[in-house]
Amino acid sequence: METLVRRSARLDLSGVDFDAFRERPLDPATLRCLGYMHDVESHTMCYLRDVLVTRAHADPDVTAFLAAWCYEEHWHGDAIARVLEIHGEPAGSSRVAQMRRTLPKRDQFRPLLYMVGSAISKHMVTVHMAWGAINEWTTQAGYARLAARADHPVLTDLLRRIMKQEGRHIDFYASEASRRLDGHSAAQRLTRRALSRFWSPVGAGVMPAAEVTFLAGHLFGGGEGRAAAQRIDRQIDRLPGLEGLRLVERAVAGR
Ligand SMILES: [Fe+2]
Ligand SMILES: [Fe+2]
Repeated sequence: METLVRRSARLDLSGVDFDAFRERPLDPATLRCLGYMHDVESHTMCYLRDVLVTRAHADPDVTAFLAAWCYEEHWHGDAIARVLEIHGEPAGSSRVAQMRRTLPKRDQFRPLLYMVGSAISKHMVTVHMAWGAINEWTTQAGYARLAARADHPVLTDLLRRIMKQEGRHIDFYASEASRRLDGHSAAQRLTRRALSRFWSPVGAGVMPAAEVTFLAGHLFGGGEGRAAAQRIDRQIDRLPGLEGLRLVERAVAGR
């Protein structure tokens, strides 16, 4: 945990040849996915708002991680913004401001729900850790699929760097979720129920439905996409008490 926080850093972009996109631009489908990823990465601080109203704020290991996590995710959004800007797409703070203006009204009440949930059950933090692990697995797999589909050396280079940091986020969330679920049947029951009733792909709560459907189809549709979705489901199966949920495959099939 200490190593993980100490290693946290702004994404290293040295040597990433952004100008190569001018010579060989990305295709429209890839740019649409990157727009989604830009918006979701840039939304991390708002997710943090929801987590911190729960008892998570009382755990110093969790808050140390969240500080590092939020910082790293910010720079992921910033790096993707550079790619979008080169292609003449909206990006950066004006795009993020526009997105936040158009969030559904229910978004304002989310902290209240989390606060009530946390007051009722001490296991809400476990739900957050499992949720975080699943979202990080999905994000990392999404970047890997996007790199494969776009087949552009500079994008692959950039996404590999981002994925390396996502890997550390996975390490934290998955190990915390595992530790808190292992041998705790009440935590397992609550987490299982919360995930099966409320989980949706990362970004689905804040992005337009058409964008979620497009991204799910582009990255997790077809044979290789479905295999990637099933791999995430197998990772979820390994968390104590969460076997057989098939969250990702179901979400992709129901898009
Ligand atoms: Fe990220
Ligand atoms: Fe992440």
